[in-house]
Amino acid sequence: MNRIEGRVKVTGLATYAAEFPVAGVTYAYPVQSQVAKGRVARVDDGAALAMPGVLAVLSCEDPPELAEDADPELALFQSRDVAYRGQFVAAVVADTYEDARAAAAAVRVAYEPADHDVVLRADHPGLYQPEVVNPNFPSDTEKGDVEAGLAEAATTVDVTYSTPVEHNNPMEPHAALALWDEEGRLLVYDTAQGTSGSRDTIAKTLGVPADRVRVVSRHVGGGFGSKGSPRPQAVLAALAARAVGRPVKIALTRQQMFDVTGYRTPTIQRLRLGADASGRLTALEHVAYEQSSTLVEFAEQTATPSRVMYATPALRTAHRLVRLDVATPSWMRAPGECPGMYALESAMDELAYAAGIDPVELRVLNDADAEPDGGLPFSSRNLVACLREGARRFGWERREPAPRRTREGDWMIGTGVAASTYPARRRPCQAVAIAREGDFLIRVAAADIGTGARTVLTRIAAGALSVAPERVHVELGDSDLPDAPVAGGSMGTASWGSAVVRACEDLNRDGKEGRADTTEEIKGDARLARHAFGAQFAEVHVNSVTGEVRVPRLLGVFAAGHILDAKLARSQFIGGMTMGLGMALMEETYTDEEFGGFLRRDLAQYHVPACADVPDIEVAWVDEQDDDLNPMGNKGIGEIGIVGTAAAIGNAVHHAIGHRIRDLPITPGKILAPRF
Ligand code: MOS
Repeated sequence: MNRIEGRVKVTGLATYAAEFPVAGVTYAYPVQSQVAKGRVARVDDGAALAMPGVLAVLSCEDPPELAEDADPELALFQSRDVAYRGQFVAAVVADTYEDARAAAAAVRVAYEPADHDVVLRADHPGLYQPEVVNPNFPSDTEKGDVEAGLAEAATTVDVTYSTPVEHNNPMEPHAALALWDEEGRLLVYDTAQGTSGSRDTIAKTLGVPADRVRVVSRHVGGGFGSKGSPRPQAVLAALAARAVGRPVKIALTRQQMFDVTGYRTPTIQRLRLGADASGRLTALEHVAYEQSSTLVEFAEQTATPSRVMYATPALRTAHRLVRLDVATPSWMRAPGECPGMYALESAMDELAYAAGIDPVELRVLNDADAEPDGGLPFSSRNLVACLREGARRFGWERREPAPRRTREGDWMIGTGVAASTYPARRRPCQAVAIAREGDFLIRVAAADIGTGARTVLTRIAAGALSVAPERVHVELGDSDLPDAPVAGGSMGTASWGSAVVRACEDLNRDGKEGRADTTEEIKGDARLARHAFGAQFAEVHVNSVTGEVRVPRLLGVFAAGHILDAKLARSQFIGGMTMGLGMALMEETYTDEEFGGFLRRDLAQYHVPACADVPDIEVAWVDEQDDDLNPMGNKGIGEIGIVGTAAAIGNAVHHAIGHRIRDLPITPGKILAPRF
């Protein structure tokens, strides 16, 4: 199907959070900490308050009332302590954006700075084992004897990879527009990946009942996780609107987004793998080092894909975290799986070369028939089918196995493969279906963050009602609609779609209105390991003079349950793989060791792929019939596309140039760096 909202988007009529026309609106502009650690000694707002149009200055000098148990990232101006450079320490509200911005520059903040510590190291003395990693997995797991498995192996690899801080850069910057009505009800137009959860968090932060808050996000211009939970601008808009008694809008600049909307934690990952003479794994160990802030423990589940991927008698995974004077990391497309599979799938490639086994065959040989860590059977698993189909489409059998053999002029040419995986979960959801004058209205607080949620839910409902999609109208993006989970964790379509199908079934019985709440249904799900799988293939050309890497060809083959709509699915896969290409070759935010915070804070320096960087991305899928998943039989596809891409490209770079770069992104400087 074509996007239902395609026409309003391309004609500029789709209304985003910062664009709702509201009478008497005012503007807030934040003041950000210039130190990474210390205390705010004094905020002098005298000059700012005297400037034209200024209505109020908010700061810790007169802390606005907030709930005591508010998330510390959202508890604005409650403390004088500074946790990271760029943290909001004050804000100006004024009649115009320009007045607010000018006055914010006139707010004088005096600090008592302290020494900061902002750099992740694998030998950092502050490293500790978190109790759980996101969303609620054990930090460490151990099965069998890894040391014995390594000792008896015919081939071993012991390799360490690192991935940098990366930032989400959705096209629509984070924004919020808040209005309080006379009865004390709050309406927030927010850039949210889910309005029900956003409402609950905003209400909890402000210390008001959830039924006094409404969040509306009709259109969202991308999020990738950065809009998965309310960011400070939503709370600031609400506080500022309460302070001045007028609606307040705040739209973050691209640079402010780098400071306060989260980022992917950097990782250092050590992989130890052993294989017997036939190539079967005897041991696999995956240890991930990562960071969080002093405010909140955010423990990314980086080593968890190693609990899912390959059969091995000995398996150990572990996470170690250090709390630094940095902003709290947050979700970025396929948190955990994406950096974790970069390391695992690079290490598998190294093992394949060390053992003299084809990289596709090594993966096939070590396919698991039950979850390697817990032993649960898979609801469905078609990794091998993806590898085989990908190899066929890519022409893998024509590949010269030895590295550094293929050249065209200055260009060294290589190919590589890596596997993908992502969990297929769902969460409780409610929905209502209403028959109205021959048409059907579906109401669910789902979020369309550019993925095509409206469109796929229309298609799902039309199928469940046995009517043409033109007769179905989906209303979403509003917390006053039936409660729904976030567009995240690749759970959206499976969660919302389940509720929509059940509501439609109820309507089919009743004739007028159907209601559903899938809470009980999900509790009854059989205990199975549910994951999507895939295989990605890359061809790279590496310039031996400049070190430039080009990727003329990327192929992804995915097994993600039943694909609900080919056009929407292809778009998700291509988007994920493009973002994976960015991770492989471009994306990196430098931490400012001297002053804290980040050095690269705009798109001139933080590079993401443009169309010219991705001439040919081919996507295919192995359609799975898996009745254990949900009524649609689908697995989420928002994130699996980015999983494995960076490893496939890195493996292809090794095949082209003959040595490994184990530190993302793979930039020309690293390719040309002298090696000793
Ligand atoms: Mo995605 S990082 O689960 O929004």
